[in-house]
Amino acid sequence: MKKLILLFVGILFFAGMYATPDEGMWIPSKVAQLNYADMQKLGCKLTAEEIYSINNSSLKDAIFQLQSEDGMGFCTGEIVSKQGLLFTNHHCGYEAITSLSTTEHNYLDDGYWASSLEEEISVPGIRVTRVVRIDDVTERVLKDITDETTEAEREKIVSKAIKEIEAEAIEGTHYEAAVSEMYQGGEYYLFVYEAFGDVRFVGAPPSAIGKFGGDTDNWMWPRHTGDFSIFRVYMSPDGKPTDGYSEDNVPYVPLHSLPISIKGVKEGDFTMIMGYPGQTERYLSSYGMIYKRDYFNPTIVNLLDVQLKTLKQDMEASEEIRLAYADSYASNANGWKLFDGEALTLRNTDAIQQKEALEADFQKWVDSDETRKAKYGNVLPSLKESYEAFGPATEDIIYLSLGLLQAGEHVMNVQSFMSLNGLLDDTKGNADAINMTVENLKAETDEMFEKYYVATDKKVFKALLVYYIEQVPAEKRNAVFADYIFKNFKGKTEMESLDKFVDAVFEKSIFTDKARMDAFLAKPSKKVLDKDPMFNYVQGVFGDLMGVQMAYLGAMENIGVNERLFIEGLREFQTDRTFYPDANSTLRLTYGTVQSYDPRDAVHYKYLTYADGIIEKEDPTNSEFIVPAELKTKIQNKEFGQYADETGNLPVCFLSDNDITGGNSGSPIINGEGHLIGLAFDGNWEWLCSNLIFSVELQRTINVDSRYVLWVVDELYDCQHIMSELDIRK
Ligand code: ARG
Repeated sequence: MKKLILLFVGILFFAGMYATPDEGMWIPSKVAQLNYADMQKLGCKLTAEEIYSINNSSLKDAIFQLQSEDGMGFCTGEIVSKQGLLFTNHHCGYEAITSLSTTEHNYLDDGYWASSLEEEISVPGIRVTRVVRIDDVTERVLKDITDETTEAEREKIVSKAIKEIEAEAIEGTHYEAAVSEMYQGGEYYLFVYEAFGDVRFVGAPPSAIGKFGGDTDNWMWPRHTGDFSIFRVYMSPDGKPTDGYSEDNVPYVPLHSLPISIKGVKEGDFTMIMGYPGQTERYLSSYGMIYKRDYFNPTIVNLLDVQLKTLKQDMEASEEIRLAYADSYASNANGWKLFDGEALTLRNTDAIQQKEALEADFQKWVDSDETRKAKYGNVLPSLKESYEAFGPATEDIIYLSLGLLQAGEHVMNVQSFMSLNGLLDDTKGNADAINMTVENLKAETDEMFEKYYVATDKKVFKALLVYYIEQVPAEKRNAVFADYIFKNFKGKTEMESLDKFVDAVFEKSIFTDKARMDAFLAKPSKKVLDKDPMFNYVQGVFGDLMGVQMAYLGAMENIGVNERLFIEGLREFQTDRTFYPDANSTLRLTYGTVQSYDPRDAVHYKYLTYADGIIEKEDPTNSEFIVPAELKTKIQNKEFGQYADETGNLPVCFLSDNDITGGNSGSPIINGEGHLIGLAFDGNWEWLCSNLIFSVELQRTINVDSRYVLWVVDELYDCQHIMSELDIRK
């Protein structure tokens, strides 16, 4: 799952709330102490030292986080050869693949396979990092914190300690360090990283394989997606990471690379997944869950729905537009379905009742002791109150940020012109600053207009503003409507006036046309900005932001404090439970087994899909279910080479009960011997509230089977350049 982010009272309830063997995203450095015995029982043959070690090479050295330039992690990848070959999901390589694609070389539609190192394509904007070591630094970070410390003091003390620890950790090395907060501030861990900035694209199947089933199958089982792509990490000739591409660089020699098993999996087999899950909220109160169900999710889903539907029309009409929007469309469509499914499972399952039952028990335990009561007595009532205020405030914030401020491609870019506007008050006095700002803006705007489709942008902009007016009653709307739009663009109705405004934005604004923008930057004038409808719109929206933000931030601070106390209290209350911290984009390990499930009454889902299922799903009239001819022929002729299982069929995807979330996408799923058996790539529809609460019965991880991955590389596309590097175990 790429990052973008769930019993009854009594006995059953406890089964759900206490960590079951397969629940938990564990910190690898704690596994030996907390989980290893359990893992052995399930079938893990590796030693704890082979999984995580700071003295010898271990599994963790093969697990990399994929990050954008700014260091934001979005996926996981694993090293599978001694020359730095990295496997990840197709949907994780998607942005890279689309950005390297043109209508002439459309790697998204046609796939790509480098047949030598020279043909590997540099991917600017991606870096990958591995964890060098993890230290528990809680004591040092919290040593000056007492029950009397105020929130503001706490923040200062903690961030000062973190800065010191991070600086010390990397002194004299080329490493990076980050102290990550766990248990909402209950514990702190230092992660030391090694970051590689030269990453190259090696290969990917066409989308008809890598994204087979599209948004229809997304988040669903049974699945037939070959969700993988291949990259290579490069280093300097002397073995050091580099910030970006260099011609002199050579393939990275890893500390550990994963052998790939094609032995296959059976129900009940041990599995573990190591990766970088982005965010979970497993200790969220029932009030937080209700807030998501009723406010946060529906608001986002509805806005995305408007945007996606509008975009889709234009994407279907033009290959160029499809390529330009493919990545943002895919990630928004992914989030749209996740948030929709999450709210749906919160409505239709017992997820919230499970939390309520836990909270009732917790409150009873708290109230039965005066000291506990003093510390935790008000935690839940206060969370209830804050979340009730938070709901409506969130709605406003989402309408603003996802609706008004992201309605058009360039709305947010207007902000950079606000400081120029200020400088233009005194053109003489500020001459130097103006020149410098304009030079920066020239570069920025060149990029803005590089792949800009004005007609599409206009449609989306208008659709979102219309939706806003329809949904938000006049007295709750952002002031820009009454004070600027309806005042300056008069029409018989609100819609007519909105129409006029939108026309003006796309006929007159410097932000919707490169020539107008260039002319402005050649001779920047305050008069032009003063009259610019887009500039005025953005200024208006921001001008009315304060009130909304204050309500939101006020509730948020209160929630933060009480959630930390809730976890702290829970850990005192449930002494026989082993706790794991919420996902926060740091390296984690989850273990479990290959598992089927029963999604609903009378229905059983097997744990494995076969290539025949691809043919079953084929629909030449639906772009999501096209089966490439070469794929179809080989499947029909059963040309599966060494990759068929004992039935003579080719496995495609399989299920396990590992506990993953967005950011884990591309993570290796590993068997008891430490060999790669597949790549994790999705969660399942029946329990999309998994970020908020785990379910043994209904929550599964969807993995692409290593046998399908290798069959595509080896038999279907005959990429011997890649095959020759891999360590394959039968
Ligand atoms: N649901 C997957 C995740 O969040 C992404 C799958 C991408 N595939 C797709 N058809 N959109 O990681």
